[in-house]
Amino acid sequence: MFFQKVTIIKVRDFWDRRPCNIRHSNAKIGSKKYFDEVEKRKYFVEPHIPQFADFYRWKGKKVLEIGCGIGTDTINFARAGAFVTAVELSKKSLEIAKKRAKVFKFQSKIKFYLANAEELSTVVPVKPYDLIYSFGVIHHSPNPEKIINEIKKYCNVNTVVKVMIYYRYSWKVLWILFKYGKGAFWKLDRLIAENSEAATGSPVTYVFSKEEAIRLLNDFEIIDLKVDHIFPYIISDYIKYKYKIVWYFRILPKNIFRWLETNFGWHLLITAKLIG
Ligand SMILES: C[S@@+](CC[C@H](N)C(=O)[O-])C[C@H]1O[C@@H](n2cnc3c(N)ncnc32)[C@H](O)[C@@H]1O
Repeated sequence: MFFQKVTIIKVRDFWDRRPCNIRHSNAKIGSKKYFDEVEKRKYFVEPHIPQFADFYRWKGKKVLEIGCGIGTDTINFARAGAFVTAVELSKKSLEIAKKRAKVFKFQSKIKFYLANAEELSTVVPVKPYDLIYSFGVIHHSPNPEKIINEIKKYCNVNTVVKVMIYYRYSWKVLWILFKYGKGAFWKLDRLIAENSEAATGSPVTYVFSKEEAIRLLNDFEIIDLKVDHIFPYIISDYIKYKYKIVWYFRILPKNIFRWLETNFGWHLLITAKLIG
């Protein structure tokens, strides 16, 4: 695969430099206000996340989250009453997630581990979980299939696995190709990685077709596979915390925009179970 030779250190350094969603609020990082604003913005822009995670379904259950970032979903699993084990590669992100658990008094509900998920079982004790959840993470690791192999070790036949990986045949890929690549499709892998995140220059970003995703999860029964999410806002306004929709999406009827999202969205949302 294209990014196999990229070192995990490069990946870690990228996310340490700019943890995911760290600028979702300009309040003081680590304050309650900061975390509340980060969450509000995240779920406003990506309303499919709470639907997909289905936080309250996991009350009293054991949840393993891979790549927790600064802990927005992590805290919501804990808030819903789950016992969470959260793993993250970036020390900086993990520190913020830990601070969040402290601010909301969920330290006893969340265990944090600094680890490369490609080698998860060398750090996190192997035992079965009710839910293994990973949102927007596996495609940023040089060897996604290694993470899937690790995930298997934490599954029994009842474990639900929910992962979001980026979708190849998406509006976003087309937008990157023309906005940044001027149509240079032969450079597409590199262009996608460069421009997939809020900070430019992600060292690894794979995209998957539905068939490739199914192949990656070869040993799993796919319970559900959905496509969702097109970011419709003008970026120069969005970074100033204003939400103005770009003209071509503004003139589209809502149902057509929704059709586009569910067919050509950026997020491939997969729910699966290990074949027993
Ligand atoms: C786009 S962010 C998503 C964070 C979080 N899941 C969220 O939705 O806010 C990707 C995260 O994956 C983490 N990550 C990438 N490769 C990883 C690996 N091999 N092991 C653990 N975490 C990894 C990064 O450090 C980063 O925090």
